[in-house]
Amino acid sequence: MGKITSIDLFAGVGGMRISLSKALRKLGYADECKLYSEINSYSQQTYNENFPETKLIEDIKSIDKKNIDQIIPDHDILLAGFPCQPFSIAGISKRKNLKRAYGFEDKDQGDLFFNILDILNTKKPRAFVLENVQNLKNHQRGKLLNKILKELRKNYYVPEPQVLDAQNFGLAQRRRRIFIVGFLNFNGDFKFPNPTNKKTKVKDFLDLYPPKKYIISDLLWKSHKKRKLRNKKAGKGFGYKLTYPTDKATITISARYYKDGSECLLYRGDNKNPRKLTPREVFRLQGFPESFKFSVSDLQAYKQAGNAVPINVVEKVCIEVLKYLIRKKNRIKNAA
Ligand SMILES: C[S@@+](CC[C@H](N)C(=O)[O-])C[C@H]1O[C@@H](n2cnc3c(N)ncnc32)[C@H](O)[C@@H]1O
Repeated sequence: MGKITSIDLFAGVGGMRISLSKALRKLGYADECKLYSEINSYSQQTYNENFPETKLIEDIKSIDKKNIDQIIPDHDILLAGFPCQPFSIAGISKRKNLKRAYGFEDKDQGDLFFNILDILNTKKPRAFVLENVQNLKNHQRGKLLNKILKELRKNYYVPEPQVLDAQNFGLAQRRRRIFIVGFLNFNGDFKFPNPTNKKTKVKDFLDLYPPKKYIISDLLWKSHKKRKLRNKKAGKGFGYKLTYPTDKATITISARYYKDGSECLLYRGDNKNPRKLTPREVFRLQGFPESFKFSVSDLQAYKQAGNAVPINVVEKVCIEVLKYLIRKKNRIKNAA
């Protein structure tokens, strides 16, 4: 059995790594994640609970370009779900309100793509998988994505990126994400995975006995309803979203879900206050296994789960990436 090595950048709590690991197992390969980079200490705590002893680089920006070769180990696949706030619709409007730069111009987070690029161009892994919000495609009317692709394509074959939705891959959550994959030295015919279109119901992702503390208070329920009415009068569509357990999917659960849970309040019956999802339920809606451990506060757990990648989708993308690598390698061997 062969072994495929990886590094996990902007790792969060390891969603990309779990996905790759599942894909490798399905194809009969052993895996080794040689390093992860994550700046947030709470995410590191959860990551270490699940993957003890993986080497950590906290801030990717701390790596000087000329030291990349010594600091970053050789690896086959680079994984990176890089920060999406500078490109997401909510992140852009927040930055505009605060009169802060957004997109690539955001010097804290927007230019982190170039750190990935420097690592790719120095270490030349065989393939990479990048993930971001779908709005990356529309930012500056597509100019930003074109710039990213132009840079990546200097050394890699990068097929047209694809937006995939978690609800088409067996998860009861609408979550559209853009995937960019690339291959060193190959050219041609990579295909992203087809949706599995497995039927889903939100109730299949819920706890059997959710603690009472997740039922929202009378006060909060009243203020949700009041805000919705106000928004409706003002012609704005925003407000809480009531989700029924029999629904096919929730809307996207964001890292801000901890605030008031407005994007997904679960219906519990007429005349009853709805409840928030529990952190475990959010992880489940992202495809994380039941064995996934977390001991951080609810607030941090919601943030971590809402920031993560949908495992089922990334696993399928990784399977296609691996199959492509295997196919191409065989073709090269046959030709020799
Ligand atoms: C969208 S989340 C990635 C989620 C991850 N792919 C997962 O599935 O859990 C982006 C992560 O990048 C981290 N991050 C932001 N700036 C960073 C930096 N300079 N160095 C390392 N990590 C950083 C954030 O703390 C956040 O956890």
